[in-house]
Amino acid sequence: MEGTMHGLLTVLALWCLVINTREISACIAMERDALAAFNASISDPDGRLRSWKGENCCSWGGVSCSKKSGHVVKLDFGEYSLKGEINPSLAGLTRLVHLNMSHGDFGGVPIPEFICSFKMLRYLDLSHAGFSGTAPQQLGNLSRLSYLDLSSFGGPAITVDNFHWVSKLTSLRYLDLSWLYLAASVNWLQAVNMLPLLEVLHLNDASLPATDLNSISHVNFTSLKLLHLKSNNLNSFLPNWISKLPALSELDMTSCGLSGTIPEDLGKLTSLRIIRLGDNNLKGAIPRSSSRLCNLVEIDFSGNILSGDIAEAANSMFPCMKRLQIIDLAGNDLTGNMSGWLEGMESLTTLDLSGNSLSGVVPASIGNLSSLTYLDISFNAFNGTLSELHFSNLSRLDTLDIASNSLNIAIKQSWVPPFQLTKLGLHDCLVGPKFPTAITN
Ligand SMILES: *[C@@H]1O[C@H](CO)[C@@H](O)[C@H](O)[C@H]1NC(C)=O
Ligand SMILES: *[C@@H]1O[C@H](CO)[C@@H](O)[C@H](O)[C@H]1NC(C)=O
Ligand SMILES: *[C@@H]1O[C@H](CO)[C@@H](O)[C@H](O)[C@H]1NC(C)=O
Ligand SMILES: *[C@@H]1O[C@H](CO)[C@@H](O)[C@H](O)[C@H]1NC(C)=O
Ligand SMILES: *[C@@H]1O[C@H](CO)[C@@H](O)[C@H](O)[C@H]1NC(C)=O
Ligand SMILES: *[C@@H]1O[C@H](CO)[C@@H](O)[C@H](O)[C@H]1NC(C)=O
Ligand SMILES: *[C@@H]1O[C@H](CO)[C@@H](O)[C@H](O)[C@H]1NC(C)=O
Ligand SMILES: *[C@@H]1O[C@H](CO)[C@@H](O)[C@H](O)[C@H]1NC(C)=O
Repeated sequence: MEGTMHGLLTVLALWCLVINTREISACIAMERDALAAFNASISDPDGRLRSWKGENCCSWGGVSCSKKSGHVVKLDFGEYSLKGEINPSLAGLTRLVHLNMSHGDFGGVPIPEFICSFKMLRYLDLSHAGFSGTAPQQLGNLSRLSYLDLSSFGGPAITVDNFHWVSKLTSLRYLDLSWLYLAASVNWLQAVNMLPLLEVLHLNDASLPATDLNSISHVNFTSLKLLHLKSNNLNSFLPNWISKLPALSELDMTSCGLSGTIPEDLGKLTSLRIIRLGDNNLKGAIPRSSSRLCNLVEIDFSGNILSGDIAEAANSMFPCMKRLQIIDLAGNDLTGNMSGWLEGMESLTTLDLSGNSLSGVVPASIGNLSSLTYLDISFNAFNGTLSELHFSNLSRLDTLDIASNSLNIAIKQSWVPPFQLTKLGLHDCLVGPKFPTAITN
C-alpha cells in the first residue's frame, strides 16, 4: 500500500516537473537577436533593461513568450521610460500580439512603419510617448487590432489627415486618439461607424473639424459604452443616434459647440452613469425623460442656456437617482426654488446651481446632505435666512459660495461649525451681526 502511494507521488512529481519545464519556454534565437539589436540602440535611463541577461529572452523584463510556440507575443515597456531610437529589428518579432511603448520619450519621431507589419497585433499602446508626424496609413493593415491608443497630452501631436485607415480596424473595441491633430479628418465619424465592436472612444481635444453628428443615418457602433469628445468645436446638434446606444455609460461632450435642445429620448440610456454636456449652447428644458436615468452618478449641464423650472425637472429626475454625487447646473437660465427636491440625496458631494435665476428660501434640509463637499448657490435670487440648521450635518464641506443673493445669515458667533472651509464666498449677503470666525481656517 505504502509502496503504491510512494510510486504515485513520484509519478506526480515527475509529471509536475515535465509541466514546469514545458512552461519555461525557450527563446527563439532570431527573436533574441532582434531584441538584442533593439536593446543596443535604445536608451534606458532607468536601467530597466539591465535584466536582459542570458540566453532566454522570454525571461527578460517586459518580454513575454507564448508557452506553446515560444515566440515573443508581448512587449510591455509601459513603465520603462525608454528613450532614443527604436531599432526596426523589432519587426522580426512577427508573432507579436501586444506592444506597449506608452510613456516613452521618442523625441518627436513619426510612428515607425514597421509596427504596421505585426499582423497578429491586438493591443497597440503608443500613448504619451513623444511620437509626432502623420500616423502611417498602413496601421489600417492591423486588422486584428482590438486596442489602439495614440493619445498624447502636452508634447508634439500626431496628425491624421485621412481617417480611412481607421475604418479598416473592424475588430477595434478601444480607440483613443485624444490630443491628436485631426483637423483634416472630415470623414472621422463615417470611419468610426465602420467599427461595430467599438466600446470605448476617446477623441478629446483633437481639433476635430466641424461635423454634422446627424450625418450618419444608421448607427453601427451600438456596443459603445464610453464616448468622450470633449473640447472639439463640432458645431452640431446633439446626435439623435445617442439614444440608440443602449450600453452607453459615459458621455462627455463638454465644449463641443453643441446647439439645439437635449433630446427627449435621452431617457432611453438607462446605463448612463456620467453625462457631461457643459459649456455648449444647449437651450430648452431639461428633458423629463431623464427620470429614467437611475444609474446616474454625475450630471453636468453647466454653461448652457437651459431654462424652465428646476423644481419640476428635479422632482421628476432625482427620485430614482440614488447614486447621484455631482449635480452641476451652473450658468444657465433655470428658474424655480430648492424646496422639496433635495431630500434623501445622501451621496451628493457637489451641488453647483450658481448663476441661474433661482429664488425662494434655501430649505434647511440642505443641512442633511452629509456627503457634500462643494456647495455653490451664488448669483441667484434666493432670499430668506440661513441659520446653523442649514449647515448642521455638512461635516465634509470644503467650499461654500452663497454670494450675490438676498440672503440673511443669522448664525450665533459662538457656533462651532462641523466643517473647515478652504473657500467661502459671501459678498452681498446680509451677515449679521458678525459671521462666526470658526467657519474658515
Ligand atoms: C542590454 O543593454 C544593457 C545596457 O544598456 C546591457 O547591460 C545588457 O547586457 C544588454 N542585454 C542584451 C541581451 O543585449
Ligand atoms: C501600457 O502601460 C501603461 C503603463 O503601465 C498602462 O497604463 C497601460 O494600460 C498599458 N497599455 C495596455 C494596452 O496594456
Ligand atoms: C498594407 O497597406 C498598404 C496600404 O494601405 C497596402 O498597399 C499593403 O499591401 C498592405 N500590406 C500588407 C502586408 O497587407
Ligand atoms: C456598418 O459596419 C459594417 C462593417 O464594418 C459596414 O460594412 C457598413 O457599411 C457599416 N454601415 C454604415 C452605415 O456605415
Ligand atoms: C417652489 O416651486 C414649486 C414648483 O414650481 C412650487 O409649487 C412651490 O410653490 C414653490 N415654493 C416656494 C416656497 O416658492
Ligand atoms: C434630516 O433628516 C432626518 C432624518 O431623515 C429628519 O428627521 C430631519 O427632519 C431632516 N432635517 C431637515 C432639516 O430636514
Ligand atoms: C444630522 O444627522 C443625524 C444622523 O444622520 C440626524 O439624526 C439628524 O437629524 C441630522 N440633523 C439635522 C439637523 O438634519
Ligand atoms: C422672497 O421673495 C419673494 C418674492 O420674490 C417674496 O414673496 C417672499 O416674501 C420673500 N421671502 C422672504 C423670506 O424674504
